[in-house]
Amino acid sequence: DRNSKAFKKIEAIERVLEEAKALTSQLLSLSKGGEPIKKVTTIRDLLIDITNFTLRGSGIKPIFHIEGDLPPVKVDRTQISRIIQNILINAIEALSGKDEKKIEVIAKKTRIPPSMSKFIEKDEVLEIMIKDNGSGIPEEILSHIFDPFFTTKEKGTGLGLAVSYSIIRKHGGHISVTSTPGKGTTFHIYIPVASETYEEEREPAINSETEILSGLKILIMDDEEAIRDFLYDALTSKGCKVDVAKEGSEAIEKYKEALSKGEKFNLVILDLTVPGGMGGKGVIMKLRDIDPDVCAIVSSGYSDTDVVSKYKEYGFADYLNKPYTLSLLYSTIAKIVQEKNIIH
Ligand SMILES: Nc1ncnc2c1ncn2[C@@H]1O[C@H](COP(=O)(O)OP(=O)(O)OP(=O)(O)O)[C@@H](O)[C@H]1O
Ligand SMILES: [Mg+2]
Repeated sequence: DRNSKAFKKIEAIERVLEEAKALTSQLLSLSKGGEPIKKVTTIRDLLIDITNFTLRGSGIKPIFHIEGDLPPVKVDRTQISRIIQNILINAIEALSGKDEKKIEVIAKKTRIPPSMSKFIEKDEVLEIMIKDNGSGIPEEILSHIFDPFFTTKEKGTGLGLAVSYSIIRKHGGHISVTSTPGKGTTFHIYIPVASETYEEEREPAINSETEILSGLKILIMDDEEAIRDFLYDALTSKGCKVDVAKEGSEAIEKYKEALSKGEKFNLVILDLTVPGGMGGKGVIMKLRDIDPDVCAIVSSGYSDTDVVSKYKEYGFADYLNKPYTLSLLYSTIAKIVQEKNIIH
């Protein structure tokens, strides 16, 4: 009975949980490891991937103006992805109700504008602009949008921009915003150009990531359709051959079948907890009986820390804590393929 008191209570609890989840994920990204783990890299691919991924399903086709020869920057790719994603989500939200929705992602090397020079030591910067033609921001709130917990949204945590700002400061960069109410908003992200040359610090693992992933056969088990879709899209876009299962026994069947056809999965990504079905812990035990060389990643939410902290003892090659970013997904897989010397 949808009108019963109990139902209303459950609804309210669910809402609180949803909000807590969003909050935790932002706070985690603030606190996780604290300091960014920076590498010299170019971020053209990152900008395109994270934009396409974030706008997927929104009905908005991004317009890219990204210079072909972007300068290298010294960044934590996961944290930079998070900023771009936070700003894009705001843009999508600001466009709701608009007929002609437009989001542009522009990136180029530029000289730091004089008004920004007090924030950044370097003269040359990579400027990323994210431009929407949404609601715009009223002048009286413009100076508050980076404040933690400032939100104009019913379900907002007000942490998206605060987190983004904190991340970019840890990169020696800056974010500014220009907005015209009714017309739209542009966020400018400035990141100092790296002084080390790209070649010197180039991480082979990152550059050949696409090469490593392409052709990999991956089986995904997750009870949540949204996550299955996410992983399916994310991995097929890198050239992986992906199959999905909703729970443990289906995953085991699919693994067996592929093995018997000589088309063994190179990697399995297993959700740890599957309500009403066999979860990752049970599946990995069975799979190791079937194939002692099985290579699996355990994926889990915050609560299931025990298996995650002892993932190796359970026979997993690595773990992914939900929610994780695309770049973490790709780099984790690439790392395993290299470590285990998986040939595909
Ligand atoms: N592109 C935009 N267009 C219009 N208003 C924006 C835009 N980006 C941010 N804002 C305003 O800035 C406020 C703060 O944004 P922020 O991302 O920090 O929090 P939020 O979006 O409200 O909550 P959360 O990110 O947790 O969902 C928003 O509530 C909104 O009023
Ligand atoms: Mg936001």
